[in-house]
Amino acid sequence: MKKNLVLCGFMGSGKSTIGHLLAEKLGMRFVDTDTYIEEKEGMTISRIFEEKGEEYFRMRELEVCKELSSLKGSVISTGGGTLLREKNVKAIKKNGVVFLLNISSGTVLTRLRNDTSRPLLQREDREKAVKTLLSQRTPLYNLAADYVIDAEESPRKVCLKIMDIYNSL
Ligand code: S3P
Repeated sequence: MKKNLVLCGFMGSGKSTIGHLLAEKLGMRFVDTDTYIEEKEGMTISRIFEEKGEEYFRMRELEVCKELSSLKGSVISTGGGTLLREKNVKAIKKNGVVFLLNISSGTVLTRLRNDTSRPLLQREDREKAVKTLLSQRTPLYNLAADYVIDAEESPRKVCLKIMDIYNSL
């Protein structure tokens, strides 16, 4: 059985949309780590951040990465902060090949202009926050990634590029 196909990248890079498409086209199971945590906690990510704090959420992310490392042949989309931590990367890569979806800060801001579901971006200086976070995180995303994909194009095109690589492994 092949390794899990893992998607990583910044908020708004299309991980969930592209993950769904990939799973459908490849006939694989799809797991979204944010949805998984929300279901287990019985509340949204925003409420988890509000009521239990970001550190609690980060701890849950590590548990999920460990749990998911026992899966095989699944498409896993991670949260934008998941693969910034070495322990999470180590767990997810045990049985997964990681694709980084690369996008510019301008694209993030356009795609998420009406979004209210990302607690880290609910602030007045959203543009500055996106630019700072993206430049801090990019080196770490690159460290985690086995393949870096330009994700500025349509989800369908990005999906095809990833499938080409994954199918050749
Ligand atoms: C986060 C990204 C979110 C979610 C949480 C924190 C981050 O996931 O996990 O709001 O730290 O970048 P998406 O990347 O799916 O938006």
